[in-house]
Amino acid sequence: MVQINIVTREGETIRVKGAEDVSVMEAIRDAGVGELLALCGGARSCATCHVYVGRDTADLVAPMGEDENDLLDASDYRTELSRLSCQLKLTRGLDGHTFVIAPED
Ligand code: FES
Repeated sequence: MVQINIVTREGETIRVKGAEDVSVMEAIRDAGVGELLALCGGARSCATCHVYVGRDTADLVAPMGEDENDLLDASDYRTELSRLSCQLKLTRGLDGHTFVIAPED
């Protein structure tokens, strides 16, 4: 299991565990954090799974694909650290890393 930290929109930090290869979105959802809507279930068509990663985390996750980039462009809250959590797989290297849930568009 990989353990990550999730910061909610209210600023609460929650520790979440998930198996390797599960997406960060799935780990958050399975932990019962309802504010991450993830409406499309990971099909890269909603952007309601928007999170911010740390600078040290950005190098550890898969590069952003074109679809993800296009979806994030539609968000008013996009930053250089924005990612779609459904596109980020949990790996051992992410143990202890933090993901911040972005404001809702
Ligand atoms: S869950 Fe819809 S794009 Fe990630």
